This record gives sequence, structure tokens and C-alpha cells, in this order.
Amino acid sequence: MDAAVNATSTSAPDVEALERELTARIDAAADEAALEAVRIDALGKQGLVSGLMRTLGQMSPDERQIMGPKLNRLRDLVAETIAVRKAGFAEAALEAKLRVDAIDVTLPAPRFYQGAIHPISRVLEEMALIFGEMGFTLEEGPDIETDFNNFTALNFPEGHPARDMHDTFFLGRNPANDPNTDDPASSMAANRERKLLRTHTSPVQVRTMLRQPPPIRMICQGRTYRKDSDATHTPMFHQTEGLVIDEKTSMADLKGVLMAFVKAYFEVDAVEVRFRPHYFPFTEPSAEMDVRCDRSGGQIKIGQGDDWLEILGCGMVHPNVIKKCGLDPEKYQGYAFGMGVDRLAGLKYGMPDLRDYFGADVRWLKHYGFSPYLLPGLAQGIAT
Ligand code: DAH
Repeated sequence: MDAAVNATSTSAPDVEALERELTARIDAAADEAALEAVRIDALGKQGLVSGLMRTLGQMSPDERQIMGPKLNRLRDLVAETIAVRKAGFAEAALEAKLRVDAIDVTLPAPRFYQGAIHPISRVLEEMALIFGEMGFTLEEGPDIETDFNNFTALNFPEGHPARDMHDTFFLGRNPANDPNTDDPASSMAANRERKLLRTHTSPVQVRTMLRQPPPIRMICQGRTYRKDSDATHTPMFHQTEGLVIDEKTSMADLKGVLMAFVKAYFEVDAVEVRFRPHYFPFTEPSAEMDVRCDRSGGQIKIGQGDDWLEILGCGMVHPNVIKKCGLDPEKYQGYAFGMGVDRLAGLKYGMPDLRDYFGADVRWLKHYGFSPYLLPGLAQGIAT
């Protein structure tokens, strides 16, 4: 620390000695923290070099002419040397990390994978891929919904029988059965507050319209719940929902999108579909879409035969829904569709009993599961 003493003495500071001392300390710094300590000692506000710079003001003009450039040079040199050393540390750290993380890419991949992708996960991914290619974004919503999002905003009026058809799992007590409330208005209000397990993915339509301005072109996927259990119904099941909201959309657009989907999903060149009029509170007109199929061999084959199989519901979004979601139905309209993922998965991959899907039987999963190495892609075929 001789140089430091010099810096505060009246004699001319020994800049060369200070330079030697600081570069030696920089060289000796073992890590970034030590290096930072040197930097603060030299260039910090109270640092040695900064202290010397401050003495320039008291020097005679002649002295300053000599010392000014010297000190500037010292300051730059120290800063530069520290920067170089610091970069060296970063590089060494990266080298060390690369050494630790090194993977021998020439090793063969294990022939047998331990787990398998569940067919439902796989089919959800296939569907998202197909609609993604058609420009649909992927939105999400929670499994626990409000009565408003699941029903009211979707034009299910309170007390409407369509609500009963949904076999809803409500959370908490049912205010309608509360012997203490015989005031219908307050029981209705409580009803509105009630949480439930969503009975369909359609409430995500509501959430999306409330959240973002049109144009909207989205799908959402996920778990849905209804009190139902047999070979073709499980209390928890999955849906994929689609919604398009814009100033000009038509039933023809809807049809084109759904036909393209069916072709890509079932990987057949030609699929004949038909639209049957139907009723959903949230669409008008509403339809169910059937695909031509063959059931003769005890197995369903899509795209041939004399039979029809219903695979989804769809329609033009009801103006009441658009209004409830805060948009102007005079300006915006659109179409929507919703399909049961589990049944479409069963049709494609030959899994007859829905209950097996969630039985967590490893033998079933081994048989029907997918290799995690093979991702669906439209180019190589989505069912590879
Ligand atoms: N939410 C309906 C259900 O679960 C399915 C559905 C039908 C969704 C028509 C739609 C639609 O978006 O337009 O039965």
C-alpha cells in the first residue's frame, strides 16, 4: 500500500508503482468477488485512483499537464485490465459448466422408455397442432368456474332446463335447497355467486371475449366435469373448444375449418360430413356435425360406409353471448365449436371404454401410450 500513502502525501504520486501494485492485485484476484474488491479499491468513489484524480485540482498547471494524462491512462488501464480478467472468469465458468453438463450425443438413446404419453395428452396435442396451423391461438381457463362464466354469460337463463342437462358438480351448499332462504331473489343472487366444476370448455370463450378485443381466433382445451359414469361417460372428461369472433364470419367458414380439422385429425383425404340442426343456448343457429363412418366390421372406420357418427357441436355465436361479454353484437359476430376429446381419441386409437383412460392401469398405458420421442407433426403424419 505504499502507493496509497504516496497518493495522500504532498510529493508527486508514484503512478508507475501504483500501476504495478494494482495490476498485480488484479492478476492475483481469485474470483469475481476479489476482482470487484480491487475495482472498488482503485476506481470506487473512495478508491486510490479516484483519490489521485481529485488531487489534480490542487496541482499547478505544469504539474497537472504531466499528471493528468498519466492518471487518465492509469484509470483506463486499470478498468480495461479488470474487464479482461472478468471476461476470463466468465469464460472459465462457462467452460466448467460445459464440462459438467457434457452429454455424449454419440451414445445410443435408450431403447425402452419408462413412461408413455397418455393418449389424451397426445390427442390434445394433435388437436392444438391442427388448429394452430389454421391460425388459432391457445387459451386457458380454470376447472373451477363461476356460474356466470359457465352458464349465465352463455345465455343459459337462470332456471333454464338446459342447466339441468349439464349434471353440474356445484361447490358448497345449494342455496336453492336452503330452508332458511325462501326469498327467491336472494337465493338467485347466491346462485350466481356459486362456484362449480366447469361442465364444458365454453366458459373460456367468455373469459377470452372479456379479456381481449376482436378479432379472436382461439381454441381452448381441458378437463370438464359432469355427474355421469358409464362406458361412454366419465365424470371427468376433456373438451376442445373453438371460437372465432370478427366482423365478418359465416357458417361456411365454420364448415371449412371443421372439415379441414377432421381430415387432418383422422388422416383421411376425403371425409364426408353433415350438419344437423341442434339446440345450444349459446349459438344460433346451432348444429351437430356428423362424419360418415363404417361400423360393419365391429370397428368404426371414418370416411367410408353408410353410417354417421356425431362428433361435435357448433354454431354461430348467439348475440346475447356477445353482448354479455361486453361486445357489440351489431358489429361483431362469430362461430364456435366444441368437441369431446375422449371419444375422438377412442375413435382414432381404438380405445372402446372411456373408464379405462383414467384407471391408471400401467398395462393399459403401456399398450395405448405414445413414445415421448415421437411428437405429432403435420408433415410426417400426426399419428406416427
Ligand atoms: N359446450 C357444448 C357441450 O359441452 C359443446 C359446444 C357446442 C360448444 C356448440 C360450442 C358450440 O362452442 O358452439 O355440450
